[in-house]
Amino acid sequence: MAKQPSRDDPSKPKQHGYEYKKQFYQSSEVAADYDEHRFRTPKRQRRNARKWAAIQKALASTNGVKTIVDLPCGTGRFTGHLARAGYQVVGSDISIEMMQQAAKLPAVQHANIAGYVRADAEALPFAAKSVDAIMSIRFLFHVDPETRRRMLREFGRVSRRWVIADYRHKYSIRYGVWRLSRALGLTKRPFERVSVKSMKAEFEDAGLRVLEIIPVRRGLSDKWVVLAESGHSDPESLKLRLKDTHYADVEVTDKLGEGKRSVVYRARWRGREVSVKVYKPAAIARHACKHKVPLAEFEHRRNKAFFEAPGMARFVAEPLGFIVEPGFQMSLQECLDGEVYYFAKRDRAPFISPRFIDDLAELVRLSHEARLYDIDLHAMNVMVDRQTGGPKLFDFNQIPFTERPQNPLVGLALKLGLLGKGSRDLRKLARFDNFDRVERKLLKFYEARDGAG
Ligand SMILES: C[S@@+](CC[C@H](N)C(=O)[O-])C[C@H]1O[C@@H](n2cnc3c(N)ncnc32)[C@H](O)[C@@H]1O
Repeated sequence: MAKQPSRDDPSKPKQHGYEYKKQFYQSSEVAADYDEHRFRTPKRQRRNARKWAAIQKALASTNGVKTIVDLPCGTGRFTGHLARAGYQVVGSDISIEMMQQAAKLPAVQHANIAGYVRADAEALPFAAKSVDAIMSIRFLFHVDPETRRRMLREFGRVSRRWVIADYRHKYSIRYGVWRLSRALGLTKRPFERVSVKSMKAEFEDAGLRVLEIIPVRRGLSDKWVVLAESGHSDPESLKLRLKDTHYADVEVTDKLGEGKRSVVYRARWRGREVSVKVYKPAAIARHACKHKVPLAEFEHRRNKAFFEAPGMARFVAEPLGFIVEPGFQMSLQECLDGEVYYFAKRDRAPFISPRFIDDLAELVRLSHEARLYDIDLHAMNVMVDRQTGGPKLFDFNQIPFTERPQNPLVGLALKLGLLGKGSRDLRKLARFDNFDRVERKLLKFYEARDGAG
């Protein structure tokens, strides 16, 4: 008869926190006790069976998976299951002691287990795009949100496509009780749990897209198994993704920047320098709710309309192409040599022309003549060309309010002619040098990126 797990068992962590746990399992005593403590009682075996069922559901939604890295594999709780299910598995963990234990256990012996590799999830020793899937169970929820994002990014770098991980969510009675106890001052114990939104944001920030959230036991467990796929917003997956398209000859060189909607890379293409904008999955989905033309195509078309408007080419980055495919959208544009106005002005860049604001006014006038409105003119959205010192537009993903008014009153005012189609541009032009709004927006962006938990 299996003994009941107790708080005094050597493998029961005695403290909270990732740094402690990272060290904790690197001990033979802990590794030797781990299975006994975790999996031997019938209740725990049922719990493991439910977790494995959820993992199988996630795997059933993938395709083309042959190789999996089980990270961290611990003592191989699921390594043997994966091997028996027909996958080629590599077990990986920071603790040699845990992996040695796995290699000894009868349930973890199978020809499909290719071996074990010591690895730190923060910097994996595996080559980019070297496996079909990475599976990470009972791990990420021990890690602080910032480190977790870095780890997810690593998973996305190494995995050709799929990432499967479990998370602890906040939609449980236990979480409610903890919130209440904390409010009443009865506990100070941390109890980090994620919402759907914060969990998706973590994956998104790491360039991954959540495809499925599988509750381990609906209503009765606070665990999810999450299936995500690589969103192709890291250079390696982008190169792979482009290989099968008619932009296979685009050579991605480096990352230029990252915004809320996209990640932008510098690349060489047909003898020139270009920029490749890879849209983030959430941005694609948000746009799809508002407009029937997909985001990449929408931006390309609007870019083209501005570029081809009489007299405008000198003010606009040349649009070169786009791709819209399931799970992947990108657009290709001339790579501008310059600095976004906000930073150029802040750093008193000597190349800003004294005529800059006059040029901007001319740009607005020509756009309106061509019936193009709502340019989204602000200091982060206009580049200062290093050669001419004048303005260059490069961002065209905003749906103009003239096409889609944000509320019915604005729509009515437009119809009745009480609001001019170009009014917003003229207003933005007049306060172009006032950075208050831009700085507030920037601050919000950095807070959302760095602070979500
Ligand atoms: C609770 S166990 C989970 C193991 C296994 N997936 C399971 O479900 O039984 C956590 C494991 O994470 C490993 N670990 C901790 N920090 C790590 C890191 N930075 N990189 C890789 N493994 C790590 C520990 O050595 C330990 O084996």
